[in-house]
Amino acid sequence: MLYLLDSANLECIAGLIECYPIVGVTTNPSIIAREQVPFASLVSEIRRIIGSERMLHIQTSCDAPDRIVQEAVALQKLAGDHFFAKVPVTPAGIQAMMRLKQLGVGVTATAVFTQQQALIAARAGADFVAPYVNRLDNIASNGAAVVADIVHLFKIHDLPTRVLAASFKNVEQVHQVSMAGAHCATIAPDLFEHLVYHPLTDMSVAEFKKDGPACPRWSVDMERP
Ligand code: E4P
Repeated sequence: MLYLLDSANLECIAGLIECYPIVGVTTNPSIIAREQVPFASLVSEIRRIIGSERMLHIQTSCDAPDRIVQEAVALQKLAGDHFFAKVPVTPAGIQAMMRLKQLGVGVTATAVFTQQQALIAARAGADFVAPYVNRLDNIASNGAAVVADIVHLFKIHDLPTRVLAASFKNVEQVHQVSMAGAHCATIAPDLFEHLVYHPLTDMSVAEFKKDGPACPRWSVDMERP
């Protein structure tokens, strides 16, 4: 499973991209609004920070198919290579996805909550589908099980669409979708740091540090044998 960052915060993106194997950034209108930065300059800055090779998924906000297509094409110009227009899986969105595929624009079907929404989006040509795990869990459903079903459906129907699991609030949810075979997961910065945190790791490192001076060891200025 590949990791993406679900954020438009420039400081967080720059810091985490340096530290972790992150292959792209996803945003949605709520995430963008939080930053209080003019939209076009925010997108350009994110692209500058992540470089031209990482994926950038930005959501469309129009309602009608024609307008969604226009918006996605404009976003692609702004965001550059490896851009994916996030399009909600509404009837208008599905129609727009089919047209965007004809135009060669990358598509991520978003706000996915059911297996059939994912299958239809895949048939419409979506490159990714983004099921919302935590929002499903919050309504007494099982987000990871929905992800597992979607992965299975794409496999048995031989579809190239990849599952980009989204909406997480804890590490266990991320772990469950990785076990379910999700191809990618997009994670908010605060949760990302929790993926590698364990108090026993910190305790172990502290112990090694304490014992270290008593042991013969290599230092960076020693010559290797
Ligand atoms: C990403 O594609 C989604 O927009 C995002 O993960 C939703 O997350 P939330 O449920 O935490 O808002």
